[in-house]
Amino acid sequence: MVLAEQFGTPLWVMDEATIAQAANACKAGLVQSQYPDWQVLYAGKAFLCLAMCRLTEQLGLGLDVVSYGELHTAIEAGLAGESVYLHGNNKSKEEIERALKHNVKIVVDCESELHLVAQCAQSSGTTAQILLRVTPGVEPDTHHYIKTGQHDSKFGLALDETTRIAKLAKDLAPAVALIGLHAHIGSQSHDIGPYLEIIDILADCFVDLRAQGITSLTHLDVGGGLGIAYTESDKATPIYEWSLAIGKKVSESFTERKLPLPKLLVEPGRAIVGTAGVTLYRAGHSKQLPGGVTYLAVDGGMADNPRPVTYQAKYTACVANRQSTQGKKITLVGKYCESGDVLIRDVALDAQPGDLIAVFGTGAYNYSMSSNYNRTGRPACVLVKDGLANIIIERENADHLLRQDRIPDYLRAKNARNCAV
Ligand SMILES: Cc1ncc(COP(=O)(O)O)c(C=O)c1O
Repeated sequence: MVLAEQFGTPLWVMDEATIAQAANACKAGLVQSQYPDWQVLYAGKAFLCLAMCRLTEQLGLGLDVVSYGELHTAIEAGLAGESVYLHGNNKSKEEIERALKHNVKIVVDCESELHLVAQCAQSSGTTAQILLRVTPGVEPDTHHYIKTGQHDSKFGLALDETTRIAKLAKDLAPAVALIGLHAHIGSQSHDIGPYLEIIDILADCFVDLRAQGITSLTHLDVGGGLGIAYTESDKATPIYEWSLAIGKKVSESFTERKLPLPKLLVEPGRAIVGTAGVTLYRAGHSKQLPGGVTYLAVDGGMADNPRPVTYQAKYTACVANRQSTQGKKITLVGKYCESGDVLIRDVALDAQPGDLIAVFGTGAYNYSMSSNYNRTGRPACVLVKDGLANIIIERENADHLLRQDRIPDYLRAKNARNCAV
């Protein structure tokens, strides 16, 4: 209530203690597994800004980035490039050059990208430390838009291509140093099984590569993707159990194959920040249709949370400004000009116009996937710690939306207030 009054709505609220708890639980699982050498990389695509980068470092996490913008944020936040990994299936020369300048490791996605990385490294006189992303052919039980490990995925190298590309990487030395393999099978998965499967598959790749004389691999990155509970029906696996199982399995799998244990990397994003986020909305108009459906519209929607419209993601909510009972079922809709802009369908919520509505579990892939649809500024984001809230992302206002606009001379009107250059 106080936050909404102080900072306005919609408002993304992130709880630092919840983020720290998840990060520490992930690390604790790896400690408990007695795996000797590991690093947790926070997958910045879930939620990234300068403050989140600082927090990542404070929590002892590395970072996985996928774009120039995420890389720039990490560097400007002062993160050491050595603990940053650059992913992506179509990295630009600009992204690769910036990564190399800061000793960021690069997860190579395809053959032509390998050549581009080698070229960039050669012209800057550096060695690119690379991992190859392989497509293990393992599918987690999740929405098909967020599966990435299946055979027809747009990400990574087919398994049977790995040896040939690894040899190529070897030949490209010293521009390129192949240090490891990476796989990521998808997102919002509750099942540990597929992770255990890909560890065996990746260990077999290590064996194949050694047989071909490629002994330089020291890193194994098994990706992220652990799901969180958005609703009661989601049976989320605790991140501690996930990382514990991964640590144990890598030990077993590599020892069984008489391989030295690589540095183990895991890349959770959603499981670190997802449950830490709550979005506060103000309820506006309500409408009861003759068929019985009641719509209650809030002052945000698909532009600040595109997950429901993109892949039918489910959320829960409550009335946050007063005690309320469960109420009859309503459909909570956004204010954007799409019929698909439904935040929660058929939710039992005793909410009235003017109420404050809290939607839970919005810490991941809300801010990071948000847009300015309908020319709407993005909400502010506050980080809450010990009862205090600090703005970490300012609210965008209507003038911010004009910042990048330009009017060609022939369209300028004498009375336009903001004829930017
Ligand atoms: C390569 C890679 N690593 C890690 C992640 C993080 O996934 P999640 O946020 O589900 O943990 C993703 C998400 O798409 C990814 O593509």
